[in-house]
Amino acid sequence: SAAEKGGYDHFMLKEIYEQPTAIRETLSRNLDDNGRVHLQETVQLTKEDFEKINKIVIVACGTAYHAGLVGRYVIEKLARIPVEVDIASEFRYRDPFVDEHTLFIAISQSGETADTLEAMREAKRKGARVLSVVNVVGSTVARESDDVFYTQAGPEIAVASTKAYTTQLVCMYLLALFFADLNVAISAEEYDNFVQDLEAISGKLEDVLKMAPEIEALANRLYDRDQVFYIGRGVDSSVAYEGSLKLKEISYINSFAIAAGELKHGTIALMEPRTIVWALATQERLFDKMVSNIQEVKARNAHIISLAQEGNSEIEAHSDEVFYIPRTKDELTPLLSVVPLQLYAYYVAKAKGCEIDKPRNLAKSVTVE
Ligand code: G6P
Repeated sequence: SAAEKGGYDHFMLKEIYEQPTAIRETLSRNLDDNGRVHLQETVQLTKEDFEKINKIVIVACGTAYHAGLVGRYVIEKLARIPVEVDIASEFRYRDPFVDEHTLFIAISQSGETADTLEAMREAKRKGARVLSVVNVVGSTVARESDDVFYTQAGPEIAVASTKAYTTQLVCMYLLALFFADLNVAISAEEYDNFVQDLEAISGKLEDVLKMAPEIEALANRLYDRDQVFYIGRGVDSSVAYEGSLKLKEISYINSFAIAAGELKHGTIALMEPRTIVWALATQERLFDKMVSNIQEVKARNAHIISLAQEGNSEIEAHSDEVFYIPRTKDELTPLLSVVPLQLYAYYVAKAKGCEIDKPRNLAKSVTVE
C-alpha cells in the first residue's frame, strides 16, 4: 500500500533513500565509543581463531556477489590476507581449495539463496570456519554459520537490492578493519582515519541523493536507448557490475559492465553513436588511465556519462554529462558512487513504465538451484 511505501512511489525508491540510516545503524552496531570495531555478539571469531586462517573465500550470488568483489579489494588492501571471491553456483562444483585454515564468508540478503547455502555447506564439510553476512535474522544461512554478521538494513522489499548492498559493503569495510588490526597490517593512525571517513559517509550519501532530480531528467532524456555499458577500474569496476545489474533487472535494457582496461580486447567493437557508457572515474590513483579509456569510447561517438570525485572537473572535456560525488577515500567511493546508478536504473524503468518493485522473471530470493 501507499502507506507502507512511506510516501514513495515504489519500495525501491524508499529503500534507496533509507541507505544513510541503514549505513549508520550498521556502523553503530559494530563500532564502540572509541571508534574501534567491536563486532556484534553473533560474531565470535577471536584472535586465536584468526591466527589459524591463511585465506578468505567470499561466496555469494547477484548483488551480494558484487559486494564481495569490493570486499576482496578492501580486505586484501587493508589486512594483507589473500581473498578469493566466487559466484556460489560456480564455487560449489569446482572442488575448491578450502580447509580448516580457510575463513569462508557467505554474503546473502535473504539468507535463503539455495546456491549460497549449498556452497556454504560444502565449505563446512571441507573444514572451513563459516562467517555469514546476512540481513534476515534467523534465516537458514544465519542458522548454519559459525559467525553471523547482520546487516542492519531492515526489511528489503523491492526485488532489486539497494540498501542491502550498501550495508553489505559496510560489513566488508568493518571486517577489513577488524582483520587488519588482528593481522597488525594497519597503523593506528590509518585505522582511525578510515573509521572517521566511514562515519562521514552517510552525510555524504545524503548529498548524493540530492542529485535525484538531475538524474531523473537525464533518464527521461535517454531511457529509450537500447545499449548501456558501465566501465571502471579498481573498485569502480565492481560498482560498474552492480550498476549494470540494476539497470537490466528493472528496465530490461541490454547492459554490460566491464573493467575499463579490458574494453579494447573486444567490447569496444560494440560502441555506436547511440550507445550509452557510464564511466566510473572515482579512483584518484587510476584517474588518468580512466580518462584515456573514456577518450577511447568517446572517439567511437558513444554518449558518455561520467562519475568522478568533486574537483576532477577536467573530465568534463571528455564527457557528455558528469556527476560528482563528495570526496572520500578511494576505497570508500562504492558507498557513494552506486547511488546515482541505482537512481538512474530506477528513473529509466519508471520512464519506460516498467513494474519496478517486481520485475518480470525475477524473484527476491532464489531458493532453487
Ligand atoms: C536474487 C535477487 C537479487 C539478489 C540475489 C542474491 O537474484 O533478485 O537481488 O542479489 O538473489 O540474493 P541474496 O538474498 O542471497 O542476497
